[in-house]
Amino acid sequence: MQFLNTFNPELIVESPGRINLIGEHTDYNMGYVLPTAIEKKIIFEFQRNGSEKDCNIYSKGFDVGFRLDLTNLSKSEIEWENYVLGVLNEISKRTDKVGGFDCTIHSNLPAGSGLSSSAALECGLAFGLNQLFDLGLSKLDIVQLSQIAEHTYAGTQCGIMDQFASVMSEAGKVILLDCRTLKSQMIPINLEPYKLVLLNTKVSHNLATSEYNVRKRECEEGVETIKEFYPEINTLRDVSVEMLLDCQSHLNETVYKRCAFIVAENQRVLEVAAALESNDLKKVGTLLYEAHEGISKEYEVSCPESDFLVDFAKTDANVLGARQTGGGFGGCTLNIIHGDAIESFVEKATKEYKVKFDIDLEAFEVRPSRGTMIAALEVR
Ligand code: GLA
Repeated sequence: MQFLNTFNPELIVESPGRINLIGEHTDYNMGYVLPTAIEKKIIFEFQRNGSEKDCNIYSKGFDVGFRLDLTNLSKSEIEWENYVLGVLNEISKRTDKVGGFDCTIHSNLPAGSGLSSSAALECGLAFGLNQLFDLGLSKLDIVQLSQIAEHTYAGTQCGIMDQFASVMSEAGKVILLDCRTLKSQMIPINLEPYKLVLLNTKVSHNLATSEYNVRKRECEEGVETIKEFYPEINTLRDVSVEMLLDCQSHLNETVYKRCAFIVAENQRVLEVAAALESNDLKKVGTLLYEAHEGISKEYEVSCPESDFLVDFAKTDANVLGARQTGGGFGGCTLNIIHGDAIESFVEKATKEYKVKFDIDLEAFEVRPSRGTMIAALEVR
């Protein structure tokens, strides 16, 4: 792209991916989640280009880019462009202070791996433009407008977890977020001598968007029925195990399973948060395994590859717990592994995974890291 010849960035923003320790699909049910940002991130470089409405976006890694006109925003046929366009569209509803700009992006965050590269892209862009054009948006505005951009332009009716984690995280902590009130508590996480290791299944099944929205509707259907008996409830967050059992015969089997998972998963988030505070790592691990069982059998958002890796983890006493992290249908499993055993575990898992699926497993350690930030401009 032509702008690259004279590109002289005035702002660099780093926007991280996230893991979720536990609390899957609870966010859009107004429940609890326990995510944190990781070191893998997208780096944005920005410059204002002096025009009123012409913008250039270029991905260094994929060597592709596009131009856009701020006064004429509409959805694109190309998926990743919609994250950018959606954010600009949301910003344009709030302020007209954005002018023409050029932006390059570079990422070491694997896309489609359940690590929220889309939230990192949305939030990093919004964060950068907020700084560049002095838009006066708060961090929470950035989180919320990025979530809406995902609904309107990318088509996933996602909850708020990914954007919140990408922007708000602090190093060495997980966020206990109440998705109803948006109150959050930073919980220090010290797993020594254990470490958090991601195993990337390298599969991202196409079901992710469509099935995601189906799950959301199934939960809403559950709420409608339960509400007939308990008018005070508005979301699955308000439903107790007893209420659910009471209504079981009025719910179809699938909807019941979805609701049962969410009610139990909310409880598990609180139990993991308490176990972290009392340093009961064994309990944390057990709850992770339990959560995966629910993800796979009740919520049915796992896949053979993730199930295989979690089952494999169970065969090794050096692994305290494991589960698929993120929206589902592939991506990464999150494992709590004794530091001394990581190498041998990864070696064995890689071998077995290759035999079973003919895919080269990718493994990396992650550390709870800080959210979106401005990075120092390099001296050029
Ligand atoms: C995706 C969504 C989140 C959340 C998770 C599942 O990552 O973007 O809002 O629902 O799936 O926990």
